[in-house]
Amino acid sequence: MDMRRPIIAGNWKMNKTVSEAVDLVRQSKVLVADIRDIDIVVAPTFTALHAVSREIKGSNIELAAQDVFWETSGAYTGEISPLMLKDAGCRYVIIGHSERRQYFGETNESVHKKIKASLAVGLHPILCVGEALEERETGKTFDVVKIQVFQCLEGFSREEMDKITIAYEPIWAIGTGKTATPLQAEEVHAFIREQLGSITHRQVSEAMRIQYGGSVNPDNIGDLMAEPNIDGALVGGASLTADSFSRIVKFRKK
Ligand code: PGA
Repeated sequence: MDMRRPIIAGNWKMNKTVSEAVDLVRQSKVLVADIRDIDIVVAPTFTALHAVSREIKGSNIELAAQDVFWETSGAYTGEISPLMLKDAGCRYVIIGHSERRQYFGETNESVHKKIKASLAVGLHPILCVGEALEERETGKTFDVVKIQVFQCLEGFSREEMDKITIAYEPIWAIGTGKTATPLQAEEVHAFIREQLGSITHRQVSEAMRIQYGGSVNPDNIGDLMAEPNIDGALVGGASLTADSFSRIVKFRKK
């Protein structure tokens, strides 16, 4: 019996107007209504969060935001606080996505602050880590991922670690159609779990979920999920239609 409940999340990125987002989740919720053994999460843009939250009320779909700021309120024009995300209906928040690191100056230090502040209001962070193509090709994958894990999760208590999900997303696999092979992914997932074991209690690291992200689709999800340390997926492109997202969620029912 697998001790880790799978978690499959759709990261919609900067796509969908409010009405399109509501339509998508309305269709999806019907298609996945019979799934009881997987945590199903969608992450719309900030503007669609509240409307999607209403649409999924009473369903088995939960809500995530794609980013957050670390202060609670105040003069931070353009930012959104953890409390506001909670208020809008979020249970999860994606933090440190590679696109934020690449285009918006996200660092391991800012990621750490965002995780801390999110935990403080009861949100469940999904921490993204992963190496660039050049880092993989020069044999730096493990070093890069280790530094990300250590710096982003430094000093968190056992109770805090318990609420965190990791998403391993090799940057070269995101939006490229170039998925890591199940073995390539498993190798890094096992390594991440080993690192987690050195910063928190073994029991906690064994229970933490590690999602894979990067060109996940209905055809490759089954083989990825068959690996012992792959506990779910963070899905971008293939989460944008109810048909493909639901087929990913129902990977066991092929
Ligand atoms: P992708 O994106 O599935 O489109 O590759 C994954 C992600 O960036 O979370």
